[in-house]
Amino acid sequence: MCGIVGYVGSNDAVDFLIAGLSKLEYRGYDSVGLSVFDHETILTRKTKGRVDDLRKVLTSRPLHSATLGIGHTRWATHGEPSDLNSHPHGNFRVSIVHNGIIENYRQIKERMIRKGYSFSSETDTETIAKCLDYYMVQKGEPLKAISKVIEKLEGSYALGILIKDTPDTLYAIRKDSPLLIGLGDHENYIASDMTALLKYTKRYYLLEEGEIAIITKDSVRIVDCEDFLEITKEEHYADWDEESAEKGGYPHFMLKEIHEQPDAFRRTITPRIIRNTISFERDNLDDRTLASIRKFYIVACGTAMHAGMIGKSLIERYARTPCDVVIASEFRYQDPIFQDGDCVLIISQSGETADSLAALRLAKQAGVMTLAIVNVVGSSIAREADFVIQTIGGLEIAVASTKAYYMQLSILYLLAFKLAALHDLLSSQELADLLHDFQHMEDVARDMLNQSGNDQYLASLYQGVKSMFFIGRGLDYGLALESSLKMKEISYIHCEAYPAGELKHGTISLITEDSMVIALASSKAIVEKTISNIKEVKARKATVLLVVRDDVEVAEDAYNQKLTLPSYPDVFMPLIEIIPMQLLAYYMAVLKGNDVDKPRNLAKSVTVE
Ligand code: M6R
Repeated sequence: MCGIVGYVGSNDAVDFLIAGLSKLEYRGYDSVGLSVFDHETILTRKTKGRVDDLRKVLTSRPLHSATLGIGHTRWATHGEPSDLNSHPHGNFRVSIVHNGIIENYRQIKERMIRKGYSFSSETDTETIAKCLDYYMVQKGEPLKAISKVIEKLEGSYALGILIKDTPDTLYAIRKDSPLLIGLGDHENYIASDMTALLKYTKRYYLLEEGEIAIITKDSVRIVDCEDFLEITKEEHYADWDEESAEKGGYPHFMLKEIHEQPDAFRRTITPRIIRNTISFERDNLDDRTLASIRKFYIVACGTAMHAGMIGKSLIERYARTPCDVVIASEFRYQDPIFQDGDCVLIISQSGETADSLAALRLAKQAGVMTLAIVNVVGSSIAREADFVIQTIGGLEIAVASTKAYYMQLSILYLLAFKLAALHDLLSSQELADLLHDFQHMEDVARDMLNQSGNDQYLASLYQGVKSMFFIGRGLDYGLALESSLKMKEISYIHCEAYPAGELKHGTISLITEDSMVIALASSKAIVEKTISNIKEVKARKATVLLVVRDDVEVAEDAYNQKLTLPSYPDVFMPLIEIIPMQLLAYYMAVLKGNDVDKPRNLAKSVTVE
């Protein structure tokens, strides 16, 4: 999705903006641009394409001596990716960069056309720029003009603003789209994402709705947008180091993050396991609150939702607490029937996913308890949920989520075991035994990573495949969904995930000798049933990769290739099985020459509906 950076200081603003925009590339974008003050004149350079394309534009049309500017990476919503639709938008008087969507932009645009303005782009953003210009002319004063614009806008926005009359000042506002103000030494910054700032500062303010930030090289003032009274802000500190935003010797962030999973797992679970018991006290979540939950709605999108599906199986099995897993974009329009004791559990890596945030707000409005599992501290979901359990494994940069999924699963295991213990469904000894095996998964994950050669080999066999089915039962079906998503989003191969027993109710008609089926059979309790289903597809001449635990004998004619997993209790197999599936997707994408970390059409954090 779109990204914003801004700089005011004594150094070269263009250098900062280009470096910051490069750090935001991971979010997914299709065009890029910047505006700076050059000798008190606003100058803009923008282009369709990547940051490298902007560098070329800057080589042919250089900008000198700018110490204040704004930059943007655009992920097209209103209008195709093009030079004209790229941000910044504005004129000689104002320039803005915008993340979010203005819902009433048509009305504003018509009004501005009536006032004599003409438009050169198809974007909603240009209407904000024209509106701001209009109010600058009317009011002659930046704060009054910005305040008027805020009054007119409906929808979501984070805006970085330059105004010709104040060539030493950067302005920023936001609503429902993140924006941070980085605090430096004789220089200050704005960014939609802390990753862009880590190299320069770790100190920041969170800007809130209804506030206007007035930022110069030596000061940051935040005022209320109605009466311009000064607001005192709490200073935050980002404890992520810059290294987590670097590849650290790996060819791709995705591979680095797959390899970081054992560490992330340990860092996430260790502070919550105390002498063979589980405690969420560090998350301010006491036992009484947890024990009062009668039902969970697990609400999330994409990979986070897939983690929720595994969570549902675990919580229902161990704690016998019913769970519904609902895709956030559906939940928000479903008019759910809430009852006493319900808890809406939002799972989100970024904490900014628009649909998940809307679901959270819906639950809060209904007076239902909300709990969030979030990776990004200070994100909207983390700030708005009643309770937050933070995953602790550092930044996730690759669009394809791997480490975040692993950390989300880790918390869900702890939650299931904790609830079971609270409801007396696990004895202390049973809990201690489970925790012992659970903690051992860190070593098993490392072993799985050491076997990545198998995945490279399999990827070389399958690189020509046009379509794949992932099948499994129970927890393996949850894994099939996630494995299929990983494969399709980065390898661009059409994939479907199916419960193995459901195939014969229709979809098996698609299985021919050209089909590739990845059959997940890690669960000992139902392995025979799954193998029967595998035989059904094999009989229809599909190529089968069997992913199976090593304590199960399977006749050789049931598969074409086999990937064996070390045998552990069924409940822990998802933590083992997901690793080769992530690696297989990764190596397929690499062999196909795809942009692994920034797959086409995708964005890291989906902040639009
Ligand atoms: O930041 P979130 O966890 O809320 O993001 C949810 C999904 O957009 C995300 O998991 C997406 O499906 C992944 N990029 C897939 O790898």
